[in-house]
Amino acid sequence: MRTDDASAQVAAYLHQHETKSLLRFITCGSVDDGKSTLIGRLLHDTHLLLDDQVAALEADSRRHGTQGEDIDFALLVDGLAAEREQGITIDVAYRYFGTDKRKFIVADCPGHEQYTRNMATGASTADLAIVLVDARKGLLTQTRRHSYIVSLLGIRHVVLAVNKMDLVDYSQARFDEIVASYRALAESLGIEYVTAIPLSALKGDNMLEPSIATPWYSGETLLGHLETVQVQRDHSDIGFRMPVQWVCRPNQGFRGFAGTVVAGEVTPGTEIVVLPSGRRSTVARIVTADGDLDHVQAGQAVTLTLSDEIDASRGDVIALARQPPEVSDQFAAHLLWLGEDSLLPGRPYWLKIGTRTVGASVTEIKHKIDVNTQEYLAAKSIDLNEVAYCNLHLDQPVPFEAYADNQVLGGFILIDRQSNATVAAGTLDFALRRAGNIHWQHVDVDQSARSRIKHQQPRCLWFTGLSGSGKSTIANLVEKRLLAMGHHTYLLDGDNVRHGLNKDLGFTDEDRVENIRRVAEVAKLMTDAGLIVLVSFISPFRAERRMARELFSEGEFLEVFVDTPLALAEQRDVKGLYAKARRGELRNFTGIDSPYEVPEAPELHLRTVHVEPAELAEQIVRALGLG
Ligand code: ADX
Repeated sequence: MRTDDASAQVAAYLHQHETKSLLRFITCGSVDDGKSTLIGRLLHDTHLLLDDQVAALEADSRRHGTQGEDIDFALLVDGLAAEREQGITIDVAYRYFGTDKRKFIVADCPGHEQYTRNMATGASTADLAIVLVDARKGLLTQTRRHSYIVSLLGIRHVVLAVNKMDLVDYSQARFDEIVASYRALAESLGIEYVTAIPLSALKGDNMLEPSIATPWYSGETLLGHLETVQVQRDHSDIGFRMPVQWVCRPNQGFRGFAGTVVAGEVTPGTEIVVLPSGRRSTVARIVTADGDLDHVQAGQAVTLTLSDEIDASRGDVIALARQPPEVSDQFAAHLLWLGEDSLLPGRPYWLKIGTRTVGASVTEIKHKIDVNTQEYLAAKSIDLNEVAYCNLHLDQPVPFEAYADNQVLGGFILIDRQSNATVAAGTLDFALRRAGNIHWQHVDVDQSARSRIKHQQPRCLWFTGLSGSGKSTIANLVEKRLLAMGHHTYLLDGDNVRHGLNKDLGFTDEDRVENIRRVAEVAKLMTDAGLIVLVSFISPFRAERRMARELFSEGEFLEVFVDTPLALAEQRDVKGLYAKARRGELRNFTGIDSPYEVPEAPELHLRTVHVEPAELAEQIVRALGLG
């Protein structure tokens, strides 16, 4: 289901059942544990299926079913055609149902190994998780993984549904054994509340009614537990926090800040602080469509007006002044990687936290975590579905709270800057202090003073292209011409810089990212010194060329794409490296077994075939306005 469809349905559903409390839960388990049967049984037995759905189900069960004349409840939940054919669940399916006591939204999370992503999607909004275990099989790898993600995303209530009890003769010993091993796991993960229930979803044991087959069990039924469990997150020790969603300015006389209160409460007259700016004021009015309120608390959407004309914009947080959240740009955080491409330290991403989006990169991967065993493993990059503990750097300070205390101000996603795809979900643990103590030192001699005495405009000419494309040859000619004209220049060449500053780096993706990050910073310093800098690096990835560009001011950075077809570069093979790469003696060679991402909008696109390097160098000098 698409998220927007889902949220529209959720809204409609909530409207209908306004007065009852709501429980959001997820079900997770491995492929054959019987999740779909469990949900199907809940929906069917609580009589919340429409009659035509039941009729369709009966017809379907006869066609596809695996349960003889019984209704195959799994068919009800396994909505997608593909999964019926493959017999696996491949997406999160949201279902809405209710009883006299409560309304429910259930996210059915797939059990298949590669769909951790969907599981995290479902878990991120849930209050409770049902972890299904097949009584015959006990805890599996998936049970551990799902429980880990449940704990990572801050779900504190777990129902351990020991299913298929009918297949182990309703053995109390077997149940106790599974419960004991799960309790040990839950404790190691810090999951606070575990309720274990012996079930047969297929037969209906302990689902709605206590089963006579388990006389030794005197606890709640599954539905009974879901209807009564108290899952309120305790935010009482956190002060008022409201991320500003938008600034509402219908006329000159009114300026309000609209948003949803995520923690605490506030009344008019309370002193607040706007973060990250730190400006203080007091709440003047709490405005809603139905008139002003004298009090507002977590969960409510309101518009606040303040008694002073202070500035706040989307993404800022309005907080209780005497108990504000921290503000930082350096964090220790857990990341669940959801991108098809690996996480590379140093690569810039967008980070969205609350209503704010800022630039961010991972400065260090501390370790990755084997979600099956909770072991720490050394890592240089993180792949799809992996969890890692990292240091993060944001390009602006943001107000935040540890995820354990406040999921809205502590949870974030990372977004790829090219594709806009969500590539990670993460939780902030704490701010790293050390960087906070480094301040920018003001100096009196600045870039314009330095460039003035050199009588030139500082520039960064960034040459990108395959190995052997002619970058260095052309850059060298350009530098000679500029020197001859009396300009102050420096040529940073990949091969040369890799002999010194970057001699610790190889040619893996992560090393190339770091290679470009460092040389871009050096080029930035050199232009700050007033020089015309020529950078000649393959720089194969768009993301890092863009990162380099963003260090410079408008017009200062010129990307020069030295466009030589691979076949020609390979034919020239000045250094004999292509031949080596083809023989398999050199790994990760650009163009052979490592990608080159062609520039999309370079300032200069030099097609080298049939054109002499001297002519191309001349083109560049002219483009600089110096020819
Ligand atoms: S980059 O990809 O990280 O930008 P850089 O420009 O610094 O590369 O270095 C490229 C030079 O290193 C090439 O011109 C070539 O001489 C040498 N080299 C050695 N191994 C490789 C490799 N696997 N891929 C590309 N270039 C390599």
